[in-house]
Amino acid sequence: MHLQEILFSQGFGTRRICLGLVQQGLVTVGGVPVTDPFAEFEPEGLAFTVEGQAWAYHAKAYLMLHKPAGYECSQKPGAWPSIYTLLPGPLRQRPVKGGQPGVQAIGRLDQDTTGLLLLSDDGAFIHRMGSPKRHVPKVYQVGTADAVDERQVKRLLEGVVLEDDPRAVRAAACVRTGEKALELTLTEGKYHQVKRMLAAVGNRVERLHRSRIGDLELPADLRPGEWRWLGQADLAACQAQRKLPV
Ligand code: URA
Repeated sequence: MHLQEILFSQGFGTRRICLGLVQQGLVTVGGVPVTDPFAEFEPEGLAFTVEGQAWAYHAKAYLMLHKPAGYECSQKPGAWPSIYTLLPGPLRQRPVKGGQPGVQAIGRLDQDTTGLLLLSDDGAFIHRMGSPKRHVPKVYQVGTADAVDERQVKRLLEGVVLEDDPRAVRAAACVRTGEKALELTLTEGKYHQVKRMLAAVGNRVERLHRSRIGDLELPADLRPGEWRWLGQADLAACQAQRKLPV
């Protein structure tokens, strides 16, 4: 693959901009500047720098972000900054055939919710992970305003009715982890679902953190605002499904 095409595929700008970056000697491969935009490289596993920024070629982008509080999961946020500003420019500009450029968040977390968020530019993966039919469990650590009692836990497990749907929604698992704390596992993703479920049982969410998707845990060393590429094992883990209790 031509170096110019590699840069273009990774989101370093239009083909013309990528051509200029190479011709100006701003791209190095193996520590050596390459000034021929049509120099051929095997893209898989290629590491290079662009204007001093180290980059590794990825045919498709799969990432996790530790979403901090105070960010919106929207490209055009209202009152708060967008999570997309936490990502380097190339990830936001990667060309996507027939779609919006750049990686997209898979599902949304509220502005005040923290924790594990997946992003990708692979439309099929985004669709699969977001599909309500797949029942990928998502685990939330919930801090509540009032003490959690056994009756609330029982109701969350048995199912509560939210105002926009007559069918009850229930937690796949619910464990009291403190006087005012719960670990709640959901296999669907309705709007504000955790907050509305807690409100339906007479409590209120004060803190909400997503700690796991499928079998993929938010790594302890990934700090709020930081992101990283998903490896093969992470990709398999986040797609792990569970049989729902009947
Ligand atoms: N449920 C909520 O209420 N908010 C989130 O951000 C995620 C799940």
